[in-house]
Amino acid sequence: MHVLFIVRRMPGVEQLKEQAGIAACRFVSDGMSLGLGTGSTVRYSIIEIARMIKQEGIDVVGVPTSEDTRQLAEHLGIPLSPIEASTSLDLTIDGADEFDPNFDLIKGGGGALTKEKIVANASNSMVVVVDETKQVSTLGEFDLPIEVDSILWEDVRDDISPICPGEVSLRGGDEEPYITDNHGFILDCSFGPSISDPESLEREISEITGVVEVGLFVGICDAVVMASNEGIETLVKPSGRL
Ligand code: A5P
Repeated sequence: MHVLFIVRRMPGVEQLKEQAGIAACRFVSDGMSLGLGTGSTVRYSIIEIARMIKQEGIDVVGVPTSEDTRQLAEHLGIPLSPIEASTSLDLTIDGADEFDPNFDLIKGGGGALTKEKIVANASNSMVVVVDETKQVSTLGEFDLPIEVDSILWEDVRDDISPICPGEVSLRGGDEEPYITDNHGFILDCSFGPSISDPESLEREISEITGVVEVGLFVGICDAVVMASNEGIETLVKPSGRL
C-alpha cells in the first residue's frame, strides 16, 4: 500500500507581509493622494501601487513618510509630493508594531514615527498592514518608541523613567545613537503589555520638554489588513472613516 502525504507549506512571515501589503491596495483608487508608510510590510503595498500605476494606469501621488520610502517609491516610478502644512491626503497605508482591539497602535520600530504621524494625521483615512504577530489585547509588549531632541535626550529619559515601569534605552546606545530623518534620537521604553489608556499616556509623555513625538497612534487607524496562516482578514473600525 502506498501512502501519499500532501505537505501544505505554511506561508512564512515574509509571505504574510506581502499578502497583507498587496491586499491593502484594494483601498487605493484612481486620483488618490496617498501617504506612503515605512517598514517591511508596507513596502509590498508600495510595490503594488507602482504596479497599479504601470499596469492599470491609475493616477496617484504619494507622500513618503521617510527617506527610505522616498527612495523606494522614486525608484519604482511613483509620482511624489513633499508634505506641507496644507497637505490633505485621501489615504495613508502604513505598517505597525502593535495594534489593539480599539485600533490604537504602537509605531516607530523603523524610527519614522514623527513623519508617519504627520502624514497619517493629514489623511482622511488610514489603513494599517500587518501580519498576525502584531495583534495584541493591550499595547506595550513592543517597546514604545519616542523620538526626542538629540541634545535633551538624557533629560527626557530621566523624566520618562518614573512613568515607565521598565527600561528606557537610547536606540543604538550612547556611543552610536540611531539618528532619525529629523536628526532626533529614539528612546525605546519598556512598558510591557500595560498600556490600557494610550491616549492619556501619549498626552503625558508629549508634555515632557524635548519629546518630539510619541509612537502611540490613538484614534487614527480606520482599518487593519492582517495576514495570517488562515488568510487575509480586513478589520474595519466600526466608528472609523472607511
Ligand atoms: C516605522 O517607523 C514603523 O512605524 C513601522 O511602520 C513599523 O515598525 C512596522 O514595520 P514592519 O512592517 O517592518 O514590521
